Amino acid sequence: MEVLNKEVLERALRPLNGSLKNRRFYPPGHPSITNTLKDAYNRITAILERENPLLLGRVNDILVFGHHSFLDPTYRDILECLQRRGIEGVSFAKGLTFEEFSSFIDILYSDRDFEVDELRRELIKRSILHVTIRFLPVGNKYLEVYQRAVDTVKKTMEEIRLGVLPKTEAVMEIVEDMTELVLEDKNAMIGLTMIKDYDNYLFTHSVNVAILSIALGDELGLDRSSLHQIGLAALLHDIGKTGVGEDIIKKPDRLSDEEWERIKEHPIIGFRIMEKMESMPSLPPRITLEHHLGYDMKGYPRIEVNKPHPYSMIVTICDTYDAITTLRPYQRPVDPLTGINRMKSMANRLLDPELLKTFVNMLGLYPVGTLVRLNTNEIGVIVKVNPLDNTKPVVKVIFDRSGKRLKKPQLLDLSLARSGVAIVASVDPLSKNIDVGEYLKEMEGS
Ligand SMILES: [Fe+2]
Ligand SMILES: [Fe+2]
Repeated sequence: MEVLNKEVLERALRPLNGSLKNRRFYPPGHPSITNTLKDAYNRITAILERENPLLLGRVNDILVFGHHSFLDPTYRDILECLQRRGIEGVSFAKGLTFEEFSSFIDILYSDRDFEVDELRRELIKRSILHVTIRFLPVGNKYLEVYQRAVDTVKKTMEEIRLGVLPKTEAVMEIVEDMTELVLEDKNAMIGLTMIKDYDNYLFTHSVNVAILSIALGDELGLDRSSLHQIGLAALLHDIGKTGVGEDIIKKPDRLSDEEWERIKEHPIIGFRIMEKMESMPSLPPRITLEHHLGYDMKGYPRIEVNKPHPYSMIVTICDTYDAITTLRPYQRPVDPLTGINRMKSMANRLLDPELLKTFVNMLGLYPVGTLVRLNTNEIGVIVKVNPLDNTKPVVKVIFDRSGKRLKKPQLLDLSLARSGVAIVASVDPLSKNIDVGEYLKEMEGS
């Protein structure tokens, strides 16, 4: 199936959300309602020419539209209407008339309570034949757990800001779920760590570090209970930043010495919070305290220990990897391969050299999310590594031989591909204006 550009979809989502939102402010028939409704209709019918049927749905709090997921709250009204009606998904089909569309939006907005089956009957009764209520394809449990983890970190940090001590059990619950999925399919979970949400950096960063740390722990053969402790620490490793002040955390310019000293307090602040949390095991607070200490102990804070705990070094490696591969106010992100090379230069100083080797091995020669050029001149993103031969992963080809962006990305399994097809180099995603996370999040693996 063709994968549409996210921007095209957003141009339809905006008026679609507007047509629901405006109903709260204007009476029926008001031009503001009719105009946005018409705009939404025109854009959706245009999309249907290229993608038919067109799916609109939700996975928990993530809005899904035409094979893309939308994490930002701009489209809250659509999400709320779907949630209120208990609808997982809706598909629009080619041939959709304006009357059908507008009538469907009426139903979506109305106060009447419909069961999903009743809703289906109502659509038929009103002759809305080009809109179908459907369930989302299965297989999104990874994305679902990811989103739940983001929500948990967000909630935990909010609680701390309000002076409420978070509950260890609530955080542990999601850590356990994450651990199970990492054990089930490490690559699928590592692929999700390419989700880099600029606006929610601290939350997605914490989740990414937790996934990578659990995966690295498993790579080292640690048991579940150790993985849970590492995951818990990783998910909460930066909660001390709640005590630093948002103006400093989000400052786009270089930090002054004074501000930098404030940032350096976050491991201690985090440690103190975690220590106070009820039923917190003893190790996670220590890992949080030590996550910037470094293998050579030259980091911060200055504390009296002989050497950092090995689990702290796990979190340090994953923290460093996620931080340097993410766009932040003061830093351009690097692709996974460049990130790994940069980390190799930190071995023996910030990072434990042996552990780093295991980490690099785990990510493979070409980690999931790397944009690569093939010897056929095609360019694609690695979506799955091959544990038997790390030079032959599965690539989603995005640009064809002549450099033209494909309307429909093609999956290419290099272990099955015509002989001689090989990766020649990694490519900077920014130079191609590619958000690799998007290609890994898409539904149905199209
Ligand atoms: Fe940190
Ligand atoms: Fe961090």
